[in-house]
Amino acid sequence: MKKLLIPFLILSMIVSENSCAQPSALVRGPYLQVLTPISITIRWRTAQAEDSQVLLGTKADKLTKKVVDVKPVIDHEVVIAGLKPNTRYFYNVGSRTKMAPKDADQFFTTAPVPGSTQPIRIWALGDFGNSSQNQFDCRDAILKATASHRPDVWLWLGDNTYNTGLEEEYQKHVFEVYQKDLLKNMPFFATPGNHDYGGHLESTTIPYFNIFSMPQKGEAGGVASGSKSYYSFNYGNVHFVSLDSEGILDGGQILSDTTGKQVTWLKKDLTANKMPWTIVFWHHPPYSKGSHDSDTEEKMVKIREKLLPVLEQFNVDLVLGGHSHVYERTHPILGHTGLSESFDPAKHVVEQKDAPDQYHVKGRQGVIYIVNGSGGQIGGHEPGYPLKAAAYSNNTQGGSLILDVVGNKLEARWICADGVVRDRFSIVK
Ligand SMILES: [Fe+2]
Repeated sequence: MKKLLIPFLILSMIVSENSCAQPSALVRGPYLQVLTPISITIRWRTAQAEDSQVLLGTKADKLTKKVVDVKPVIDHEVVIAGLKPNTRYFYNVGSRTKMAPKDADQFFTTAPVPGSTQPIRIWALGDFGNSSQNQFDCRDAILKATASHRPDVWLWLGDNTYNTGLEEEYQKHVFEVYQKDLLKNMPFFATPGNHDYGGHLESTTIPYFNIFSMPQKGEAGGVASGSKSYYSFNYGNVHFVSLDSEGILDGGQILSDTTGKQVTWLKKDLTANKMPWTIVFWHHPPYSKGSHDSDTEEKMVKIREKLLPVLEQFNVDLVLGGHSHVYERTHPILGHTGLSESFDPAKHVVEQKDAPDQYHVKGRQGVIYIVNGSGGQIGGHEPGYPLKAAAYSNNTQGGSLILDVVGNKLEARWICADGVVRDRFSIVK
């Protein structure tokens, strides 16, 4: 794979779409990565090695600009730069001699100018790639619920495919499930889970790292991580951070090691963050009594004990995870790192409610922790379920989370596979 970064305007030229004689044999994609206000990465896979050509424009029937990479490859990864913020572009992919058939649903909208307060819709989906009916139903429920305002940012919370993160598993359980309605026009940002690593915890060559592109250079805002396993980006007035709770790369970057490489970078990133909203996501949740127990699973215990004080220090608003195949959501909480039984609402819940589940940040802010791991997998409970710290728990329905951020207000809805919203809350600050 060769990356191509060519100023969009320099390569702009009129292209006759009549030159698109034979369709290119696409076997994957196109899919959209590393969205920024002025650039995007478009990826796809072809059956045979060929050069890469992207045509694009602001009108679906007039793709007047082109970007070319002459190197023949099967996995195509083309960075399109020099775009305008908050602008819809239509595109097509192929080679210099054969483009894919025209598809009016191949489009993307560049991110708004950093700090913009226009409405932002975020979709967070966890533990999904298993080709279950629940996975299909969760997808369809979101498509229906967001038909009039599609998500701008799509977060993958890890265990993106089952069972061991293989190429063919991504193809069958992810690309075949989401390609038609989502992947060609909805950029996504992934975090790795234990099933994505498939036990190869020190490997930088697992399919997860080959298939996806991450904003590791700070190109989408945030401090450059220099790593594909953890990174940050801005969208509008929200700062997002994706952390790796499974891998042990680069000579050690364990998430519960607050002096290790990953958390050292995290502290720098959060120190530099000027956005009013901060959402941090990683796979292994610090609080759960679903199909995993945060009192007994060592990784979850250590992350809660060591990492949570760092997040509190930087006023993180939301922490999203999966791993447990249930939905569990806390109130805004502070100062609790012990076992579940030691949680004391009187001591640890930051009392900011104007009304039930409507939080209003007036003084010191708490962090809301959400386990959102039933986007495909579903069910399970450990001793002590429901979690004492949870304001709401559900281990019988599958679902995923929609967050709407408008200026100083965030509204969350957990939309179940049957379309019913079974948890909602809001934060005003
Ligand atoms: Fe997991």
